[in-house]
Formats: sequence, C-alpha cells, structure tokens
Amino acid sequence: MLNQPTTSQSATRHALSQDEDAFKNDPAASLAGVRGKDVTRAAKALLKDSAKRGGGSIQMQDVVKIYPGAAKRALDDFNLDIKPGEMVVLLGGSGCGKSTALRSLAGLEDIQGGRILVGGQDVTGTPVNKREMAMVFQSYSLFPHMTALENVAFGLEVRGMGKAERRKTAMEQLELVGLADQAGKYTQQMSGGQQQRVALARALAIKPRVLLLDEPLSALDAKVRVQLRDQIRSIQLTTGTTTVFVTHDQEEALAVADRIGVMNKGRIEQIAAPRDLYQRPATEYVATFIGLTNRMPGASNGEEAVVFGQRLPLITGSAQGDAVTVLIRPENLTLIRADANDSHVGEHARVAAIHFLGALVRVDTVITSGEYQHRGNSKPLEVTVQLPAGELPDGLAIGDDVIVTPRPVAALAC
Ligand SMILES: Nc1ncnc2c1ncn2[C@@H]1O[C@H](COP(=O)(O)OP(=O)(O)O)[C@@H](O)[C@H]1O
Ligand SMILES: [Mg+2]
Repeated sequence: MLNQPTTSQSATRHALSQDEDAFKNDPAASLAGVRGKDVTRAAKALLKDSAKRGGGSIQMQDVVKIYPGAAKRALDDFNLDIKPGEMVVLLGGSGCGKSTALRSLAGLEDIQGGRILVGGQDVTGTPVNKREMAMVFQSYSLFPHMTALENVAFGLEVRGMGKAERRKTAMEQLELVGLADQAGKYTQQMSGGQQQRVALARALAIKPRVLLLDEPLSALDAKVRVQLRDQIRSIQLTTGTTTVFVTHDQEEALAVADRIGVMNKGRIEQIAAPRDLYQRPATEYVATFIGLTNRMPGASNGEEAVVFGQRLPLITGSAQGDAVTVLIRPENLTLIRADANDSHVGEHARVAAIHFLGALVRVDTVITSGEYQHRGNSKPLEVTVQLPAGELPDGLAIGDDVIVTPRPVAALAC
C-alpha cells in the first residue's frame, strides 16, 4: 500500500512509471469489455454494490498546476463539475493539460491553487491511496509474472481481503470484462486488448468511487479500440462508476461521453453533451476541434448571418460584422447541378472530389463565383458538402458545375 508521499517522492512522482506503480501497487488500473449478454450475474452484483456505495461527484475548483521550473501553468484556473455516475471525457490536443488534470484529481500531482472535492468532501490534501480512485493508463502496466486473476486479485489482497473472497471478486470482474475463460493465463501471453481489459478489471475490483482513464486505448489497433471503447462505456453504465476519460481522439470522445470537456491551454473551453458540443460549439477552437467545418464568408448581425445569399440563424456568442467567417458543417450544406436551376440561392462551384462513405457522400468543391475566388489570399475558397447518398445528383462527376447552398441550421460566426 502506498504511504503518504514524502518530499523526495513528490519530486519524482510525475515520472509516469512511478505513477503507474503507485496505482498498480495500490490497485488501481483496470478496464474491460462487455457485450450485452456478458453483463450478467457479476454485473448485477456490482450494480447493487455501487448503488449502496454511491458514485462520487467531483468538483475541481480553480485548480492551478505549475510544474517546477515551467514558465506557464499546466492547469490555469481549471474548473470541472461531475455528477455521480457520469462519464466525462476530457478532449484536447497534446500538451493541453489532460493528463495533468487527471493526475491532479488522483492526487499524483500536488497543486498550487484551487481545491478538489469528491462526494462533497475536500480531498485537496488527501494522499493518493486515500482517494478511493482507480486509474488505467495507456500502457497496461500489469504484473507479467502473475496470471490475469492474480493481477486483479492483487489489489484486494493489499486491502486485506481473504483469499476465497478475493478470488471470487476477481473472477466476477474478469467475467464483467469478458475474460473469465482467460483467468489462468499470464498477462504476457495475452493480446493488448485483453491486457487492457485485465487492467480495467483490476481497477474496478477495488470498487473505486472514481475511475480515471488516461488514453487507455491509444496503444491498441483501430478495430480493438472501437470494441473496447464500447465495452468500457457499457461497463461504466452497468456499474454506475463516476469516470473521467482522457483522449485526443474526438470520435472516441463523441462515442462514449455523457459530456465532453474540450481543453485548451490548461482549461476547459466548453463542456457539453456530445450532440450539443457538435451542433452548438461555443468557440471557433471547439468547432474546428470536433468534426469537419467549413470556414465561409458571410455577414452577421449577431443573431443571423447571410452566407451565399442564404439566411441562417447564429449560435449565441457569434460575432457581428459585414465580413465575418461562418463555420458551417459539411452536412449543413447542400448542392444541386448548376444547370438544374440557375435562379437557386447559392454560389457556383466546381466538383473537385467525391468520396463515398456508404450511406453518406462527401463532395469537395471549389467556389467559382468571382466574388469568392480570391478571398483574403490567392487561394480559391474550398467548400466540402456532405449529403445522404440518395441526394447526390445522378451521375455527378469531378469537374461538374454545381450550386452550393447552406441549409438554415444554426452556425457560429467568428
Ligand atoms: N512532469 C512535468 N514536468 C514539467 N512539465 C510537464 C510535466 N508534465 C507535463 N508537463 C507540461 O504540462 C503541460 C500539460 O501536459 P499534459 O497534462 O501531459 O498534457 P496532455 O496530457 O494534454 O498531453 C505541457 O505543456 C507539458 O509539457
Ligand atoms: Mg496526456
């Protein structure tokens, strides 16, 4: 079990390997996968248990983190409020402070300002092993000389649970992650996805109040990543564990989160449900970080904009002016053949590429109306349109002339 960190420990404890050891020894890390039918006896037992225990709410208030010798703050008045049982994803590019936020919450980093509450209790000065949190890292950090079962049971042993009971509990966790039949295998004999599921089982075995996942899927290949991400979400919903999931992958974030906090420079720039974040981004940074977006010239009075002759509503906080940039998603544009109806609202464009995506088709166009050809610099305006495949004009080909029109859907002007 971990002791309260000493000064020399705290000087080195930002080293990732030590963080991982801390959680390994304490018994933290774990993740897993479950498909509908796998959520069985074990899951029901867990559900009952987490209801008794009560998931932890989290408040991080004006948290400041300055690494020794660093010129800027890694967390800059960072605020985050999470409801019990909620899954919040922190999303952002490399270096924006995601891991620092998670490690500060876990108690692996001391903070220079602000406070952290779990279940309404101030844990700002509470050592890592007393915070009842479990963490899973990108690297699986399992004990290679132990079986899957022993890895999961280890943390329970540390906590003084008897042999028979910890074996039973560990088996339940392995069942929850769909690995009951692999219990006797050494972890080094397992695939990456399986190892990460063992790590998840190990984290959940201690019944943490809060589960912390730092890019848990980044080391896995694409197919396993999608599978495991869905399993994690399924287990999280089943167990009702308050969870913070860190990733730089927007698709992953959109797929699993109750809410996504988009981070920029040590702060959350916007936090909202995936759909709200996508449809009503509050800032240009958020709009361009999540999904594809076109930057289109328009005029705005702050409530409405006119783009390519089409009037459209604006998201609160939009800029005003005669020459603003309106951010429009590809699916909020449409196109028709230019010869179909020359009086149609919109601008002329030439088809540059057509990408079939199955049910959808994405068409890259270059605007040919003189007014937009050389806006700002010498580059012509490129606009991407996404349509349901059935709406694509028959036989449309590269080089064809089309008219591109925004749909009257709320957009952000900046
Ligand atoms: N141990 C450390 N010592 C000094 N600076 C660090 C340390 N860890 C992270 N940083 C810096 O803090 C900022 C945030 O880092 P981090 O939280 O790891 O970002 P992310 O996880 O979003 O990639 C970065 O500028 C990074 O260089
Ligand atoms: Mg990180």
